[in-house]
Amino acid sequence: MTNNVTEIPHRDDADLERAQAYFDDIIARDSRIEPADWMPEAYRKTLTRQIAQHAHSEIIGMQPEGNWITRAPSLKRKAILTAKVQDEAGHGLYLYSAAETLGTPRDELVQQLLDGKAKYSSIFNYPARTWADMGAIGWLVDGAAICNQVPLCRCSYGPYGRAMVRICKEESFHQRQGWEILYTLSNGTPAQKQMAQDAVNRTYGPALQMFGPPDDQSPNSQQSMAWNIKRFSNDELRQRFVDMIVPQAEALGLTLPDPDLKWNEERGHYDYGELDWDEFFGVIKGHGPANAQRLAHRRAAHENGAWVREAAAEYARKQAEAEAQTAAVA
Ligand SMILES: [Fe+2]
Ligand SMILES: [Fe+2]
Repeated sequence: MTNNVTEIPHRDDADLERAQAYFDDIIARDSRIEPADWMPEAYRKTLTRQIAQHAHSEIIGMQPEGNWITRAPSLKRKAILTAKVQDEAGHGLYLYSAAETLGTPRDELVQQLLDGKAKYSSIFNYPARTWADMGAIGWLVDGAAICNQVPLCRCSYGPYGRAMVRICKEESFHQRQGWEILYTLSNGTPAQKQMAQDAVNRTYGPALQMFGPPDDQSPNSQQSMAWNIKRFSNDELRQRFVDMIVPQAEALGLTLPDPDLKWNEERGHYDYGELDWDEFFGVIKGHGPANAQRLAHRRAAHENGAWVREAAAEYARKQAEAEAQTAAVA
C-alpha cells in the first residue's frame, strides 16, 4: 500500500515553523488542506480517527436495515430499502478512501474495526424490531446524520468535505423515505400507528445521542472547531435537530417521547429533557443490546468476502502483467 502523503521536507526548526505557518494560514483563510500538504500530526490523527469511525458507522449501519430487506412489505419497499442500504455501503467506501489519503491503509482501518478497537456510531448497536423501525431509522437516524454532516461539507480537509457533499444528497433521500414509511403507518390501522409510535419511542433518545456527549464532556470538540473540522458544537447540532423534528413529528401525527419537550419563546428553540448518558457510554463501551452481534456479523462477512479480495488482487496483477508485456513489445 502506498502512502501518497508527500510532506514538505523539513530539515530544521525553521522549516517546521514555516510549514506550520503555512498550515495555520490555510486554516485562517478557511481554505482547504489537501493530502500532499504538510499538516500537524495531531490534525492527521484526529481526522484519520474521525473519518474511519464515520466509515465504520456506514458499514455497520447497513445491518439493522439489511435485516429487513427480505421482510419488506412490498416489492416497492424492498427496492427502496435495498437502494438505501447500498448507498450506505457506498458511503463507507468513499470514506475509507478519504481516510486512506491521510496515510493509513484501508485494510489496517478495517482490521481495527474487526478487532473491536475502533468505535462506530452507538445507534447501530440497537436492534431493529419491526418494519416501523425502517421508518424511524430513516427519519431520525439519517436525519441526525444530515444535521451532523451538512457542516462537514465545509470541513478543512478536502477529501472529507468533498465526500460529504454527495453523501448528504443521498442522506436526504434516506430521511425522506423513512418519514414516508412512518406517514403511511401513522395513517393506517390503529395497530400500524402504534407500531410507528413504538419505533419512534425507541429511536428518539439514541438518535439525539448521535451528536455525541454534551459540550462540557466533549474534550476534543474545541480543537476540532479550531481546525475547521467541526463547525458547530454537539449541543448546537442536537438543538438544530430537535427544532427540525418537532414540526415533522406533528405532521406525522406521532409524539416524541419527552415530557420536557416544549417551545421556549425566550431562546427561540425547543427545550428538551436530559438524555440517558449512562446508557450512551455503556453502549460505546460495548454493552449495547447488539454490539456483539454487529461485530460477529461483520467479521463473518469479511471472511466470506476474502475470495472477492483475492480475485480482485489477482485480476489487477494480471492486468499489470499484460500492460508490462504490451509495453515491452512496443
Ligand atoms: Fe450514510
Ligand atoms: Fe443514510
